[in-house]
Amino acid sequence: MDVLVVGSGGREDALVQKLAESDKVETIHALPGNDGMAGQAHLIEGNAEDVEAVARAAREADIDLAVIGPEKPLALGVVDALQEVGVAAFGPSREAARIESSKVFAKQLMEKYDIPTADFRVFSSHSEAVAHLNDRSFPAVIKADGLAAGKGVVVARDRAEGLRALTQIMVDRRFGDAGERVIIEDCLVGEELSVMAITDGETVVPLDAAQDHKAIYDGDRGPNTGGMGAFCPVQFYDEELAETVCRDILRPTVRAMAEEGVPFQGVLYAGLMVTEDGPEVLEFNCRFGDPEAQVVLPRLDSDLAPVLAAAAAADGSLASEAELVHWREQSAVCVVLASEGYPLDYEKGYSIEGLDEVAENVRLYHAGTVRTDAGWRTVGGRVLGVTGLGRDLEQARRRAYRQIESIRFSGMHYRTDIGR
Ligand code: AMP
Ligand code: GLY
Repeated sequence: MDVLVVGSGGREDALVQKLAESDKVETIHALPGNDGMAGQAHLIEGNAEDVEAVARAAREADIDLAVIGPEKPLALGVVDALQEVGVAAFGPSREAARIESSKVFAKQLMEKYDIPTADFRVFSSHSEAVAHLNDRSFPAVIKADGLAAGKGVVVARDRAEGLRALTQIMVDRRFGDAGERVIIEDCLVGEELSVMAITDGETVVPLDAAQDHKAIYDGDRGPNTGGMGAFCPVQFYDEELAETVCRDILRPTVRAMAEEGVPFQGVLYAGLMVTEDGPEVLEFNCRFGDPEAQVVLPRLDSDLAPVLAAAAAADGSLASEAELVHWREQSAVCVVLASEGYPLDYEKGYSIEGLDEVAENVRLYHAGTVRTDAGWRTVGGRVLGVTGLGRDLEQARRRAYRQIESIRFSGMHYRTDIGR
């Protein structure tokens, strides 16, 4: 089959590299992709968020399966647009993507179907939200309803911090319309965990769990980013916890979406807090995590293409494909190399050295790079992801960090404690 990967980051490079291993995949296209993928994918120029243009390009290239990376095109209806022109697409419809694009939708779904999550209230009036803060306990978590690139959540330690967050989200509209409504919820305590599952709307195929590191600096200090690294597997994620997550969270959520008349097909990503009372949902995403995909996909021993195609077809064939999903007895650690200044403003155009030789147990994922006549240059905040593979986390970590020693660009910043 001919496959199109939509998106341009490290997650999409991980999808391209995994799909390139498949005997069933003839050609891979990426829109817009990045130059790091050019050895394995044919790059199609364009804007992934112009969903009609993506659909036209897919039609013209006679694509058999489109695989959507980022949430934005999904929330804008790229899957609906692709299906309209007869191209099969892996990922949820615009309506089903609301599980990520509206936190209010997700929380109300969980409440209605008894899926464990923190107690919450929804406010569309700033003054009512303020009144609520006046008579509740702290810490409290304040969330903008809509998409805010991972930055619309504040864990407020006291009332003053809570009031500041409400002003930024609801009055200053720092995240635009995403702040029309807010959720104020109880603060959960425990270990965070990301569990992704592939689903056709009925069958649920959980992937191995991963943990990501969101803060910019070592020791989880500093502002949150899209993700500075990840590792997989997670030691405390044993069979019992995996079964609990599947039984109490993943399967009921997929069933709930179907019952609501918005069947969910694609990756259901549950961001969880494993509390004393068991796992609870912090958020749902409607796509692969970035950089979780960069540690989960290289450990997958089976062919990804037929699994994604079966989910997209939603014809019941995912159930038999699911039995073919196996994991390598390996650990993976991904370290993100970022531009100085990220997640705030950063300079672009620095020359990158050391990308030519990659050790056997290392995968290099391009995110914010461009190839010029004079060599590789930086063009993004997250520039590269370096994934080390090994028999345990320690060996995987060592391999990732050893590879990084030979990569250089001006202002290169990375965390030294990923997977510790
Ligand atoms: P979210 O985008 O909803 O996953 O939130 C971003 C981050 O905020 C999460 O990864 C958690 O670290 C934190 N967070 C969100 N909700 C809660 C909660 N109810 N209790 C504690 N921490 C939370
Ligand atoms: N790494 C978190 C996310 O992809 O949302």
